Amino acid sequence: MKSVTLISIEIAMLILQFVSNSLLVVTHTTTNINTDEVALLSLKAHVTDTGNVISSHWSVSTPVCNWLGVTCKIRHGRVATLNLRNFGLVGTIPSHLGNLSFLEHLDLSNNTLHGNIPKELARLRRLNYLNLRFNYLDGDMPGWLGSLAKLRHLGLTSNKLSGSLPVELSNLTMLKAINLGNNLLKGNVPQQWGISFGNLKYLNIDDNKLTGQFPLPILNMSSLIFVSFTNNSLSGPFPLNICHSLPNLKGLYLSINNLNGRRPSSIKLCSKLQDLSISVNKLSGPIPGEIWNLTTLRTLYLGYNNLKAQLLYTHQNSKMKG
Ligand SMILES: *[C@@H]1O[C@H](CO)[C@@H](O)[C@H](O)[C@H]1NC(C)=O
Ligand SMILES: *[C@@H]1O[C@H](CO)[C@@H](O)[C@H](O)[C@H]1NC(C)=O
Ligand SMILES: *[C@@H]1O[C@H](CO)[C@@H](O)[C@H](O)[C@H]1NC(C)=O
Ligand SMILES: *[C@@H]1O[C@H](CO)[C@@H](O)[C@H](O)[C@H]1NC(C)=O
Ligand SMILES: *[C@@H]1O[C@H](CO)[C@@H](O)[C@H](O)[C@H]1NC(C)=O
Ligand SMILES: *[C@@H]1O[C@H](CO)[C@@H](O)[C@H](O)[C@H]1NC(C)=O
Repeated sequence: MKSVTLISIEIAMLILQFVSNSLLVVTHTTTNINTDEVALLSLKAHVTDTGNVISSHWSVSTPVCNWLGVTCKIRHGRVATLNLRNFGLVGTIPSHLGNLSFLEHLDLSNNTLHGNIPKELARLRRLNYLNLRFNYLDGDMPGWLGSLAKLRHLGLTSNKLSGSLPVELSNLTMLKAINLGNNLLKGNVPQQWGISFGNLKYLNIDDNKLTGQFPLPILNMSSLIFVSFTNNSLSGPFPLNICHSLPNLKGLYLSINNLNGRRPSSIKLCSKLQDLSISVNKLSGPIPGEIWNLTTLRTLYLGYNNLKAQLLYTHQNSKMKG
């Protein structure tokens, strides 16, 4: 009798536990458009907008999906795009934005936002476009960005981000563009990036404080068409085989570094090259004659090196710059 009671108590407890677990799951997943509204009102409370756009148009008497800069998807009725580019926002990014669980496109570029990028944004699992360019965001370059598995475009240019390039970004195998120019980033490109980024077309880390050898991992990213490391402190030899590894290159910008050795000899393999900028380095040796046979070439910056320039003729398509 006793054991039967015990068993039924156990069963009852199991059922209770099951019910409370499912309740937990339910409360965890039932975010709705009100959650989105709370998150956006939190943003409104964290900024002043010099253009009075948010303060006058984001009102609880209007449905969230009609607010300026906000777009919802008909399918789920939730906020999918937040585009507040050039809104004159002054303030910080609230962690509540991490609750916009259906967000795919976030553009807060060209405002006056400062402080950290809140780590709660790691919860935006559907995000494929993140643009926070032209702000004053600081703190270390966040490793949690590696959780945004669908990200295709990462734009953090012209902020005050410091620290090193996070290895965790190598999780983002769908990335097409990485723009991190004009920050305070140090160190070098992690080895894992080269192995992961099979779709990367644009890699721009100019105007930072990168050091070490020319970042060899990029030679594994054969999809690259635009690479810029202008104005860093990269040293060591220029990779002579770069055109062999990156045949799709249209723009290669490596000026203002400490690269030495000879300039690329197999430049004709870069048959799509339009812009080559390698001035203000320590490169030496003659300029390869074949460079003038690149009919795609538009600009060429070679100045302030130790090149023995043999400028016998200029291609009519190329424009010389010092
Ligand atoms: C940034 O916004 C200002 C106005 O707030 C505008 O004048 C400027 O052209 C914008 N810059 C970019 C790069 O969009
Ligand atoms: C949203 O995010 C904030 C801070 O990250 C949190 O405190 C809040 O409880 C979250 N949930 C909802 C439903 O707003
Ligand atoms: C990288 O991806 C894996 C699998 O998708 C995930 O478990 C892990 O948390 C991710 N790492 C980071 C730093 O986001
Ligand atoms: C190089 O980048 C730094 C920022 O890291 C910037 O302050 C400086 O003006 C840049 N120099 C040139 C020549 O562009
Ligand atoms: C390119 O990736 C392979 C593995 O896929 C690795 O063995 C090799 O070292 C990488 N090369 C560079 C230059 O990173
Ligand atoms: C440039 O092209 C011309 C005509 O195709 C060829 O004769 C010449 O050898 C080429 N020069 C170099 C340096 O590759």
